[in-house]
Amino acid sequence: MATHKIILDTDPGIDDAMAIFFAMQSPDIEILGLTTVYGNVPVSMSAQNALRLCDIAKQSIPVTQGVGMPWVGPESTYAHFVHGDNGFGDIPVAAPLGQLDPRSSAQFIVDTVKANPGEVTLVAVGPLGNLALALRLCPELPSLVKQVYIMGGAAFVKGNVTPLAEANIWNDAHAADIVFGASWPLTMFGLDVTYDIPFAPDFVDILAQKNPILGGFVRDSAQFYMDFYSQGLPERVCYFHDAFPLAYLLKPDLFTFTRGHARIGTGELDRGQTAIAPVGSTMSPLWLEAPTVNVATRVDHAQLTQLFIDTYAL
Ligand code: BDR
Ligand code: CA
Repeated sequence: MATHKIILDTDPGIDDAMAIFFAMQSPDIEILGLTTVYGNVPVSMSAQNALRLCDIAKQSIPVTQGVGMPWVGPESTYAHFVHGDNGFGDIPVAAPLGQLDPRSSAQFIVDTVKANPGEVTLVAVGPLGNLALALRLCPELPSLVKQVYIMGGAAFVKGNVTPLAEANIWNDAHAADIVFGASWPLTMFGLDVTYDIPFAPDFVDILAQKNPILGGFVRDSAQFYMDFYSQGLPERVCYFHDAFPLAYLLKPDLFTFTRGHARIGTGELDRGQTAIAPVGSTMSPLWLEAPTVNVATRVDHAQLTQLFIDTYAL
């Protein structure tokens, strides 16, 4: 029996696809639903892409379409330059066979958490609009979820969209402010760990060799993504941000954390900044009144790489 019930909130997306397949492959993870959000691509594409990934993996998992706009401000310009026009590095992908669950992502989160009180971990690897909206729909949600794991933010390192901000938080900073401000147990896997060490260029080839269908899809779709990440570098590199919180579910010992009060920037210059004051480092009431979160600061990359390979090989 799977030990971890999760809802995976996602914007597929190439590293999202790698993470979703990783979770699907693990016998210790039960995905109760893929709740989609805009981010790498528009939300309608994100939802259809999640259905496509279920087809490829021959998995019947509810998929919902969620928030398509930031909490405040105009529509996003998306990240097609990282993920391709179709979100999968422009490799050909068949139209999905499955249908969307008619509920919004936020409603699905609320319904599913209420049906499994204390058991569901929310794993969010895109902008945080769905989680923010779920909090608005169900203010008691924090007392009903087990954990909240987020791929997003840059605590003690520079951002990847601005010097201060990582893409998922920058994309919907006001939603992130709501999510980080809620009284639930939140753990952040940001660029501090996901952008620390790249995966070697043959990593995706090994995934494909171990698992020709799922790993093969990751290898093929990731070529475009690797082109982006390798610009100006002597060697091809790859980053798989979104799989980190899922790896933590399976092997918590691989990670090191700092606990700190978290503030999210929503101004023009600091938009999307995840500013962390480690516990005990400040007397400022502005910080002391902010909830504390766990921030992943280090990961054993060799063991993490092996975990991904071994799980794809199952
Ligand atoms: C995050 O932004 C997206 O491009 C990725 O899917 C990941 O969730 C990394 O900053
Ligand atoms: Ca993502």
